[in-house]
Amino acid sequence: MPEPSKSAKPNGNALIKVAAMADLHVQEDAQTSYRDLFGEMSREADILVLPGDLTNLGKPREAELLAEDLRACSIPVVAVLGNHDYESGCVEQIAETLRRAGVHLLDGQAVELNDVGFVGVKGFVGGFGPRMLGSFGEPAIKAMVAESVNEAMRLENAMRQVRAKRTLVILHYAPVLETVAGEPPEIFPFLGSSRLAETIDRFKVSAVVHGHAHRGSYEGQTPGGARVFNVAKHVTKPTGRPYALLEI
Ligand SMILES: [Fe+2]
Ligand SMILES: [Fe+2]
Repeated sequence: MPEPSKSAKPNGNALIKVAAMADLHVQEDAQTSYRDLFGEMSREADILVLPGDLTNLGKPREAELLAEDLRACSIPVVAVLGNHDYESGCVEQIAETLRRAGVHLLDGQAVELNDVGFVGVKGFVGGFGPRMLGSFGEPAIKAMVAESVNEAMRLENAMRQVRAKRTLVILHYAPVLETVAGEPPEIFPFLGSSRLAETIDRFKVSAVVHGHAHRGSYEGQTPGGARVFNVAKHVTKPTGRPYALLEI
């Protein structure tokens, strides 16, 4: 597998600028081109972060179109996949296409760029706080909760790999309720899980970015005080652009 080609140089303790945008939902008909936006983000930031739902239906062609658009990006790209990227059962092919395009695609791993640790995992559903779904009853419910717990454990293992003093956690699903506010309350349990926040709060984390809640809110924090940003393309951000700019 070729190494990601866009390199980042260590810069000591200077803050780095991260452009982050989730839920690109690239479609086969190529009506969703991100070429100009990738160029713009390359001028504005040091690193580009894409927290999942990169494709609309998880089709290999959608990933190829995204890879073509990413040629306009001149900064390192770090990403995780989202639920939509799993839809067509071609996740391996999609991952391979993106890695070939130079993307640091994280799924329970960490990568260090510009002296910042980037930790990525997709996450899963399950709900928030005391109302989280518990492992009780039918095997299907238990399997669902087990998947949620498993994603939190994979995040923990990835966090333990980080040696950098600053860490950005990249998720697709939300770790807190605050940043899904704005979505219909009926679907809150399908937008993320507090189990992710419980894991995050066991570590020192500079910030967390996620997507998935298209109608959610931009900013929140974990119970332990880690900053959380919903960077779904559709969410209104201080930049006034589809992407967030964070200093880490
Ligand atoms: Fe999405
Ligand atoms: Fe999603």
